[in-house]
Amino acid sequence: RIVYVNGEYLPEEEAKVSVFDRGFLFADGVYEVTSVLGGKLIDFAGHEARLRRSLNELSMPEPAAMGELLEIHRELVARNEIDEGLVYLQVTRGAPADRDFAFPGEEVPPTLVLFTQSKPGLADSPQARKGIKVISVEDIRWGRRDIKTVQLLYPSMGKMMAKKAGADDAWMVEDGFVTEGTSNNAYIVKNGKIITRNLGTEILHGITRAAVLRFAREAQMEVEERPFTIEEAQQADEAFFTSASAFVMPVVEIDGSVLGDGTPGPVSQRLREIYLDESR
Ligand code: PDD
Repeated sequence: RIVYVNGEYLPEEEAKVSVFDRGFLFADGVYEVTSVLGGKLIDFAGHEARLRRSLNELSMPEPAAMGELLEIHRELVARNEIDEGLVYLQVTRGAPADRDFAFPGEEVPPTLVLFTQSKPGLADSPQARKGIKVISVEDIRWGRRDIKTVQLLYPSMGKMMAKKAGADDAWMVEDGFVTEGTSNNAYIVKNGKIITRNLGTEILHGITRAAVLRFAREAQMEVEERPFTIEEAQQADEAFFTSASAFVMPVVEIDGSVLGDGTPGPVSQRLREIYLDESR
């Protein structure tokens, strides 16, 4: 696989980053995941805009190649012959001479890394046909979840707690309300209405979320942006989550409680179809 590091396209074995990189030592970095369908990047502009915002919120300098990100994405998709899959992009605050809590000065350039992951069958996913099971876990992440940082230890732990409980993923709960999934935005459907948490610093502003809500409104579906509880979700007709790597993913079980007949519901399925049709 060919990866990109600071201006160079290299075989993955030859790509190297310093042990002093602040991404490695302080999780001082941000990232984006853009999906690829039929060799085409989905919602690139949205991911690029959110990256710019994440960098800005953390006073992190933009990498020199900021203006070439689309070209770099396309080059990696082409060189690695990605038909279905994703492009991962990460910017970290670079590698100062020594470990120091204070941010380095302008002389330290940020580190830019991109790589691809091929995922054949991403669109026609067996999991999406079956639906997935989630458990709830307490949301103990930091308070700026609107910034897409690489601090993903707690979401990883949530995923492991789900696996241990025989489920697939976790929905995080703060002050009694669902914030989001470990790596996705959470939704329920009641009487045809799509309910998902309103934007704020408590959740990541999903690029897929924005697209799906737009398509839903265009299709005259009712949307309500507000917090909901696990109990309300368990009483809902349907549930699903969205992300660049899963698109629209039906959820059929929450904390052991089965939704409807335990199969993906019509609204979730329709939204997945619309999203894939519109994106391709
Ligand atoms: N995760 N919420 C969280 C916490 C996320 O990590 C993600 C994405 C989303 C959905 O955002 P988007 O629709 O822009 O992908 C919501 C990516 C896919 C990841 O970490 O792999």
